[in-house]
Amino acid sequence: MNSLFDLTGKVAIVTGGTTGLGEAIAVGLAEAGADIVIVDILAGTETHDTIKNLGRKVLQITTDLSKMENINMVVNQTV
Ligand SMILES: NC(=O)c1ccc[n+]([C@@H]2O[C@H](COP(=O)([O-])OP(=O)(O)OC[C@H]3O[C@@H](n4cnc5c(N)ncnc54)[C@H](O)[C@@H]3O)[C@@H](O)[C@H]2O)c1
Repeated sequence: MNSLFDLTGKVAIVTGGTTGLGEAIAVGLAEAGADIVIVDILAGTETHDTIKNLGRKVLQITTDLSKMENINMVVNQTV
């Protein structure tokens, strides 16, 4: 049953991942095996450190996603 939710080898970009629902989703995806890109206008280390401690790769990008050029930058950095 667990293999249905195995995200090993996948990368998830989680917007608003520093706090609240985004944080919970980022940690949940990491627990399922995904590497995570946290994108948020707020800097913060807690979500980043939680994911790192799960043994997943994690990249934190602090930027304003209301600007199109920043969205393109996030995708480019992720790739
Ligand atoms: N449909 C529903 O039932 C439901 C229920 C709860 C929350 N929501 C929505 O889900 C979203 C998340 O809710 P939450 O409670 O976790 O909110 P939150 O305010 O705790 O988290 C939002 C995150 O987005 C970040 N953010 C805001 N503007 C940004 C920007 N321009 N660029 C990058 N990051 C930005 C904030 O810094 C914050 O970390 C909200 O939009 C909320 O309205 C929907």
